[in-house]
Amino acid sequence: MRKILAGLSLTVLALSLAACGGDAVAADSVYANVGAKVGISMPTKESARWIADGNAMVAQFKAMGYQAELQYANNDKALQNQQVDKMIGNGDQLLLIAAVDGGAMNDVLAKAASKKIPVIAYDRLLTGTKNVDYQATFDNTRVGALQGQFIIDRLNLTKKDDKTYNVELFAGSATDINAKYFYDGAKPLLMPYIRSGKIKIRSGETAFKKVATNLYDAKVAQARMARILNDDYKTERVDAVLSPYDGMTIGIIKALKAAGYGTADKPLPITTGQDSETPSVKSIIADEQTQSIFKDTRELAKVAVEQANAILTGSKPMTNAEVKNGVKDVPTYYLYPVQITKNNYKTLLVDSGYVTEDDLKV
Ligand code: GAL
Repeated sequence: MRKILAGLSLTVLALSLAACGGDAVAADSVYANVGAKVGISMPTKESARWIADGNAMVAQFKAMGYQAELQYANNDKALQNQQVDKMIGNGDQLLLIAAVDGGAMNDVLAKAASKKIPVIAYDRLLTGTKNVDYQATFDNTRVGALQGQFIIDRLNLTKKDDKTYNVELFAGSATDINAKYFYDGAKPLLMPYIRSGKIKIRSGETAFKKVATNLYDAKVAQARMARILNDDYKTERVDAVLSPYDGMTIGIIKALKAAGYGTADKPLPITTGQDSETPSVKSIIADEQTQSIFKDTRELAKVAVEQANAILTGSKPMTNAEVKNGVKDVPTYYLYPVQITKNNYKTLLVDSGYVTEDDLKV
């Protein structure tokens, strides 16, 4: 609102300068962007969060007098490049991009830069390019740290006894630098227990490359969990699974149930997740998934829209960090992720209006 008012008073100033026959053109660069069109490129509709992100941004841009063009890329990097190219052709004056593959957009980003179209990386960093101006995201290392610490707490690993626990590790997509941040947030916390033998990784798979899940695909996660259960858990039982994202956790739980978990005799292991998507919150309420991370997409959209508005009106976008993308330090605004369990989902998700009780009815 403050920004709109600032925009309005500049408009008034420009008009009154024009009326006085003064040099109104100086204010023109600001005035010119009122009603500008922005392009919003999201990775997929498969996950409800990106739909919420996209809709929230469009609504906020429209409320501020901008036009917005929203496209989803069906998790296809070539399609996303085409869509962004088209946005440039359509005359969009700023781009907000959550990339399918953060390192695969350099050509189209170079084209945007050649036309002086600013780019904001939305949630996922655009890597290996100088042609990204700002980023709005969450502290993704903290996401992983919350997930890792949750497993430590729930398994009570700090207790000095002889018990050992079987844990399996999953990471997100290698096409998204966030996936590395999540894993690098969780793994160092678990490592001392792995080294001491308190945690056993029966699959032996711990390297990011081994545990990564292409495009965060639930089916890929399900297949890997099924394979591990079949190969390494004939006589053992898995006690916890580190998963970075709700969609993957759904796949992992499917594999576990197919292997007989989820009964009084063979309870499901502790599982983590991220995004607090409705099916997963329902799963938490039903005592299947154990934890998720809540990243309020309304807030993320607000930050990105504020950054865009600042760029378009010639003021300084909000930032509180800088993140290396391999070529430059990208000025970034980090939001704070929080943890969701059965104990706090009502306060954080329902009372805040993120979802309704009705959404969560089975
Ligand atoms: C990440 C994002 C997560 C999750 C994941 C899978 O980039 O930060 O919140 O949505 O992608 O979509």
